[in-house]
Amino acid sequence: MQKLKEEVGRLLAPRVGMKPAEVITLLEDPPDPSYGDLAFPCFVLAKTRRKAPPLIAQELSEEMADERGLFWDKAVPKGPYLNFFLAPDAFGREVLQDIWNSADKYGHVNIGKGENVTIDYSSPNIAKPFGVGHIRSTVIGHSLYLIYQALGYNSIGINHLGDWGTQFGKLIVAFKRWGSEEELKQDPVNYLYQLYVKFHREVEESPELDDEARSWFWKLEQGDGEAVEYWERFRRLSLDNYEQIYDLLGIKFEYYHGESHYNQMLEKVIEVVREKGIARESEGALMVDLEQYDLPSVMLQKKDGATLYITRDLAAAIYRFETFNFARSLYVVGAEQTLHFQQLFKVLELLGFEWAKNCAHVPFGLIRFKEGRMSTRAGKIILLEEVLNRSIDMAREIIEEKNPDLPDKDSAAKAVGLGAVRFGDLSNDRIKNIEFDWDKALDFSGETAAYIQYAHARICSILRKGGLDDTAWDDHAASLLTRDEETALIKTLAILPDKIIASAESYKPSILARYLIDVAREFNRFYHNCPVLSSEDELKHGRLLLINATRQVIANGLALLGIEAPEEM
Ligand code: ARG
Repeated sequence: MQKLKEEVGRLLAPRVGMKPAEVITLLEDPPDPSYGDLAFPCFVLAKTRRKAPPLIAQELSEEMADERGLFWDKAVPKGPYLNFFLAPDAFGREVLQDIWNSADKYGHVNIGKGENVTIDYSSPNIAKPFGVGHIRSTVIGHSLYLIYQALGYNSIGINHLGDWGTQFGKLIVAFKRWGSEEELKQDPVNYLYQLYVKFHREVEESPELDDEARSWFWKLEQGDGEAVEYWERFRRLSLDNYEQIYDLLGIKFEYYHGESHYNQMLEKVIEVVREKGIARESEGALMVDLEQYDLPSVMLQKKDGATLYITRDLAAAIYRFETFNFARSLYVVGAEQTLHFQQLFKVLELLGFEWAKNCAHVPFGLIRFKEGRMSTRAGKIILLEEVLNRSIDMAREIIEEKNPDLPDKDSAAKAVGLGAVRFGDLSNDRIKNIEFDWDKALDFSGETAAYIQYAHARICSILRKGGLDDTAWDDHAASLLTRDEETALIKTLAILPDKIIASAESYKPSILARYLIDVAREFNRFYHNCPVLSSEDELKHGRLLLINATRQVIANGLALLGIEAPEEM
């Protein structure tokens, strides 16, 4: 498209008395593809030519009747517009060659130039089971991580574990009173959670438990040996559990810097806030007023000296800038924390940090897994691990039925099962709430990962039969693809880079996800109407190149959503 624009710019410039660059900025996308691929609005010439725009469009098209470009084929007037049509042969060859040469890097545009982007995502709370509540942050965050990486940024994944706070005092009390080493070993995270729940039940009857818990947390904050030892153990056991899930999902974090990581920095932060004169004391607590910015005031320190979630986030933000000098700092956290991040960013701004404007909260709605598919005991958290394994099992059943002879059903089931959950999340505009429906998410003909993966596997099978090897690029064959279905598919493949950039800019992997559905759909339309293996030699070769490029686009796109593209399924 860019090449077409440049060509049209060069060609029109002398005729309309403008510079090519000016012409290019005026070019528009026609409202309907049947009108052409680029439109030049003739209104802008009405004054100089002293004619009605439709007449100007007519005249220009006549003046250019004998001209042909490398990328454009004809210029047709339509109302006040002069519409340019791509030359499908040259366009097809150009796009396919680009994909062929870039291969698994196709779509990756180096706009980041190695700059750092920190991505705070997943961030579960220690000593609680990894519930489905954290799935959205995990998959959206991971996809943004991969997308920024593909755009030449240095992505830095940070897991801001909830590993500090009064709940650890409660856990220590509960474990000392009722805990069993045996049970802790068996199923650590669940057991800790049960103890936590028990604490809350018992405290109703015996309120003194609360004082005990407070004093244990106080000890922990003072660095008391026994308290720290408990805390470290609970943290380690939880992390071991979370890491199993991250392994299953193929996720690695650069840093597990939980809330506790910033403990040493809090005093300094409080000092900076005081020095800046943006805080006030209120009954011994330290507050920052934000009323004049239409935000509620925030408390940074309680009267007993304790700090809060936002105090640690303040320290974390400053630490991240000082350590990574980030170009952007993203927080992939549910929409229920929107106010928290507005306050956080406002305080950073008031502290005079210019980089506060490069911090962004990436919010999302809730996800609910439809009942009936999960054997949840009443009151139990739905575990992410259970959801993932359930999905893999269901995928295996479907594959078993559809393709009983498939040699490696396990890897296909894993790819399809995990893909279903990820895509079920990522294909929705993140701000919407999701009602996850198992049957829909695994429907091979719906708007699902499986639908896209299936197109990919099908292409791989045709390529195996057609025998396209790595050295088979052919200029001529690639320029024979001028049927409507072929051109439509090529046009779709051509915009992968734009879609990746748009996903990054708006922090919406859903743009890429929806686009991949279009690619699979265009492929199916092509394949339905244009035979590949039974075509004549040259054309067959061209079509193999086209489907190979489609395979590449699907694989590259799915990879950025963290979804595998199996060759057989
Ligand atoms: N642990 C928090 C929660 O589960 C999320 C932390 C998000 N990151 C942050 N920097 N506040 O709600």
